[in-house]
Amino acid sequence: MTQLITLHNIRKEFGEKVALAELSINLHEGEILGFLGPSGAGKTTTIKIITGQLHQTSGEAEVLGKDSRKIDESIYRQIGIVTDNSGVYDEFSVYDNLALFASILQVDKSTIDGLLARVGLSAEKKQAAGKLSKGQKQRLVLVRAILHNPRILFLDEPTSGLDPSTAKDIHDLLLELKSEGTSIFLTTHNMEEATRLCDRVALLNEGRVVEEGAPLDICLRYNTEKKYELLLSDKSTLVLSHNKHDLQALSDLLNSDQVETLHSLEPSLESVFLKVTGRGLQ
Ligand SMILES: Nc1ncnc2c1ncn2[C@@H]1O[C@H](COP(=O)(O)OP(=O)(O)O)[C@@H](O)[C@H]1O
Ligand SMILES: [Mg+2]
Repeated sequence: MTQLITLHNIRKEFGEKVALAELSINLHEGEILGFLGPSGAGKTTTIKIITGQLHQTSGEAEVLGKDSRKIDESIYRQIGIVTDNSGVYDEFSVYDNLALFASILQVDKSTIDGLLARVGLSAEKKQAAGKLSKGQKQRLVLVRAILHNPRILFLDEPTSGLDPSTAKDIHDLLLELKSEGTSIFLTTHNMEEATRLCDRVALLNEGRVVEEGAPLDICLRYNTEKKYELLLSDKSTLVLSHNKHDLQALSDLLNSDQVETLHSLEPSLESVFLKVTGRGLQ
């Protein structure tokens, strides 16, 4: 499996403050990796270190085989970055913003129209970027980051503050990009987003990875005591455990047609995070 990013024992101090401590994580080619943690966990710092915008205090970070402290134009041509600091020129039209980047990146401007159509911004092509809604601006920034068809796309909380329907459009686009071969490193504090999108997630707390794996595998790892929640015909609820006594009760209730709904109570990423760290993700 090709590793596009390797971080080994990354530590980052800001004065007295330790933002990252012994952080190790890889991005495999073709995957969407989610970096999940509450505000202040060190997500943005990690992206900045990988993309050479900040230097670590110690440890090694490599992106596409190159030390992240020495990345040059040949690497920048192969990565796209979407962060909150958008750098969009508000007076320029949507198209002109993209045309400017196309010339900097020396890519054909003819790809712009197709990408605008793909994110639903064709009608806003000639509109000043400053007049876009938050969701439209986020889609513009995303198009700018993928103009040059990068091998790795970095997204720092790409749907934070967006309405559910715009967030879903962005999720769909990211899954399409993945199917076309782009590898994605994204940060989020939204566990539903992570569960829906990511092949693997790393749970980050106070600068350390406290759990790592496929979302489902992580949740099942913590499903030590299997439980089921039932809604009965009389609208009362009942939680049963996976033991002989309760399973017999469950069977009796099902046979006597008293069960309206039945759900297993396996943990979510949110509850795993809470269990491991003692704090929530929000
Ligand atoms: N330039 C900086 N100077 C001092 N402290 C910083 C700086 N950037 C980040 N930090 C601190 O490092 C920690 C991690 O921040 P950050 O990576 O932005 O977290 P996240 O993106 O997960 O919310 C926080 O405690 C934050 O206050
Ligand atoms: Mg951040």
